[in-house]
Amino acid sequence: MERIEVSAPGKLMLFGEHAVVYGRPCIVTAVDQRIKTSVRKISNKILRINAPEVDIDNYEVILNKLGRVDVPKGVRFIEFAVRNFSQKYNLSSGVEIETKSDFSSKFGFGSSSAVTTSTIMGLSELFNQKLTKKEIFNLSYKTVLDVQGVGSGFDLAAAIWGGTLYFIAGGKEIEEIDVPKKLPLVIGYTGVKADTTTLVKQVIHLREKDPALVNSVFNAIGAVVGQSRTALEKGDFKLLGKLADINHSLLVSLGVSSQELENLILAARKKGVYGAKLSGAGGGDCMISFVPYNNKKEVESSINKAGGEVLNVKTGAQGVRID
Ligand code: PMV
Repeated sequence: MERIEVSAPGKLMLFGEHAVVYGRPCIVTAVDQRIKTSVRKISNKILRINAPEVDIDNYEVILNKLGRVDVPKGVRFIEFAVRNFSQKYNLSSGVEIETKSDFSSKFGFGSSSAVTTSTIMGLSELFNQKLTKKEIFNLSYKTVLDVQGVGSGFDLAAAIWGGTLYFIAGGKEIEEIDVPKKLPLVIGYTGVKADTTTLVKQVIHLREKDPALVNSVFNAIGAVVGQSRTALEKGDFKLLGKLADINHSLLVSLGVSSQELENLILAARKKGVYGAKLSGAGGGDCMISFVPYNNKKEVESSINKAGGEVLNVKTGAQGVRID
């Protein structure tokens, strides 16, 4: 085989962000917006990348120099993924990688995790390694830690397994949650790009100042996640809304919300949602709300009026796959 096309879904954090970095569980769902990655063998011993969404046009690096110099931002995840794969399994030829995305990287839907996992799966198939999901996860997680130093890997699990997952950092536990009904979510994008690493570091500093207090917030978030899992399995969306409100308040107490997020959450709450919270690192990106089916349109227009952009995605999408 000389060429393979692989795609992986984006993700949406439902419950448990930040606390998941400290060993508590979280719940994440894969969304039906995918990144398609084409991986091709080439004769030159180089890695060539084309990623038009992030303005990368014919970027080239010699295979034995991968990840050594100052790697440009737009190709970091791919270059480190190829380096980590080649260190473990040896590449018998050069590779060309091209990416195409259904969604903008600005939404915080996890474009880097989708591109990392699909690159590793593509290499695994092309070079006959047939890695298991867990092996793809481990190499992808190493890649993420090499590039950004922090992170639980929840986004990689969503990209690989798909569906809706109960997840513990580093992939210690990855369990599919059987969600009986379509999730009645309305998602609002703030228009502000969140910087995950900065926010994670901000919480690290907060915890250093008062570990006991911040750990008790993480414990409370962990308890919310446990109850949310049961509520999801039962399809009890009213309860999920209440739990979203509690989870959001706990995140506010960690200092990771923003004015834009609060505006959209308030706009949603005014229209009778079951509950709402920020999703992901905070500071921007998206909020989510659990909404009674007959209120959906009203909630959407309220979010729009408050300056948000409503994003229509389906949850529980399929994980990384050969297309
Ligand atoms: O910013 P996002 O959507 O990638 O979410 C980050 C979630 C954190 O829990 C803050 C970090 C992590 O890696 O789990």
